[in-house]
Amino acid sequence: MLILMHKLVARRIGVPLSEIRIRRRGDIIFTHIASQADPLLVIIRSAKSVSLQTYLDKFTIVRDSRLPSLDQAVVDALFDEIAFTYESIIDVKRNMENIDLLFETIAKAIGPLTGATILDLGCGTGLSVQSRFNRGINLIGIDRSPKMRDIALLKGMRVAGIKDFENQCVTLDGIFASYVFHLMSDTSILCPLWKCLKPGGVMIANFHKNRGVESINEIIVKLNGSIIELDQPDGSERHGAYVEYHKQK
Ligand SMILES: C[S@@+](CC[C@H](N)C(=O)[O-])C[C@H]1O[C@@H](n2cnc3c(N)ncnc32)[C@H](O)[C@@H]1O
Repeated sequence: MLILMHKLVARRIGVPLSEIRIRRRGDIIFTHIASQADPLLVIIRSAKSVSLQTYLDKFTIVRDSRLPSLDQAVVDALFDEIAFTYESIIDVKRNMENIDLLFETIAKAIGPLTGATILDLGCGTGLSVQSRFNRGINLIGIDRSPKMRDIALLKGMRVAGIKDFENQCVTLDGIFASYVFHLMSDTSILCPLWKCLKPGGVMIANFHKNRGVESINEIIVKLNGSIIELDQPDGSERHGAYVEYHKQK
């Protein structure tokens, strides 16, 4: 199987077979090219028909072309793998700008955030802790990647587990997701989070390259939420569509 993968990847990306290095982690196979630090290739082991997709303009993901979106296991493996270099790979300013806009949009919807409990869904390395809006807010993060969570914890973010929400131990005034929904194929987290959102509470997200809007809208409609596709806040065009989800009062 591994030899087949070697050959397949080498052929696909036009690199000599001798350059390909493979490492296995659970169901995921990481492929590195010996002469380059990048790209990193993440492969679904069971993929029979594969297609290539680039991510962050840096990584090539070889994935099962029958899957409509990136497989969640691949996304999880990718973020665990890049956690410690994440902030040097992304444009931190761009993400901070987006997080600030999401905080501002929540405040417009529910009023001043002082004392409010706000969840950063897909908090990653905890950039929102550094936002100028994070004053007097009870900010909580949640993320699937243990390594991203560890870094958020080091930044001083309070990181919760899904059990806290399944057991409805937390009541949320608002939720935001920055650069997350375009990657999310396992959406099972949304139902318990929505249940923890106060009546009248909001969830606000950007959708990178407008990806994922329909699938998230569908879920929220089933949860009886209402949807407002927002006019882009000033300067936000590069972050993709902004959508606001309201829980009925
Ligand atoms: C591109 S990063 C964005 C991180 C942070 N929000 C930011 O703006 O820098 C996407 C994050 O979403 C997390 N993620 C992806 N799918 C998820 C899911 N289904 N549930 C929770 N977190 C998820 C990843 O682990 C990763 O940390």
